Amino acid sequence: MAKLDPKTFGNFYRVLTGVVVPRPIAFVSTISPDGVNNLAPYSFFNAVASSPPTIVFSSSRRAGSKSKDTLDNVEATGEFVVNIVSDDIAEAMNRTAAEFPANVSEFEVAGLTPGASDIVRAPRVAESPVNMECRLQQVVNLGEGDHQHGLVIGEVVLLHIRDDIIDGHRVNHHLLKPTGRLAGSMYCHTADVFEMVRPIYQPDSAPAGTGEQR
Ligand SMILES: Cc1cc2nc3c(=O)[nH]c(=O)nc-3n(C[C@H](O)[C@H](O)[C@H](O)COP(=O)(O)O)c2cc1C
Repeated sequence: MAKLDPKTFGNFYRVLTGVVVPRPIAFVSTISPDGVNNLAPYSFFNAVASSPPTIVFSSSRRAGSKSKDTLDNVEATGEFVVNIVSDDIAEAMNRTAAEFPANVSEFEVAGLTPGASDIVRAPRVAESPVNMECRLQQVVNLGEGDHQHGLVIGEVVLLHIRDDIIDGHRVNHHLLKPTGRLAGSMYCHTADVFEMVRPIYQPDSAPAGTGEQR
């Protein structure tokens, strides 16, 4: 087994993001204090608590000479929307990832439609099957110098989901078609699924049974 020490192995980021895969993609929409809609993908992203429903994504502070508009807008307004990237909008998502200046709306660049949110000012991506309206809880600063990141912690205050995708609490992933991010410019579809029911520990009887789990 190779052993990689992050302190001496150059560009460790590439290996880290190559092994923590597949990552979901938060397509984050915000609005600037001047009213410019912004949209960008973030794959340092996950759901991390259930009550209150909490998501996180992490943005580097800078992209070359400019700061990231998403993080600037989140810190200025305290609000954002996380839109789920499905295979149907994956190419449009990729078009928004260039470092456009703050006065450019990536909705127009990508040909996506800003829809009104119910609670926050930031717009939703109308073409996305799921939109989560979020309020900023906290930004945790990570790293130093050129490697500073803002870990955005947000509470989901309203979730929009396309009717055909949800039945009660059950989400149909064949219809959702979420896109996964692998390393660099590689992505995956998530259609190849299998079921494995989690066992329940029963101290007085062996072997362990199975059942519905959270
Ligand atoms: C699929 C994908 C995932 C990305 N994930 C991140 C991420 O987690 N953190 C980050 O800082 N940049 C990430 N980026 C780069 C940003 O999307 C890019 O810097 C973008 O221009 C930022 O836009 P903004 O300045 O409008 O926020 C990602 C790019 C792609 C294509």
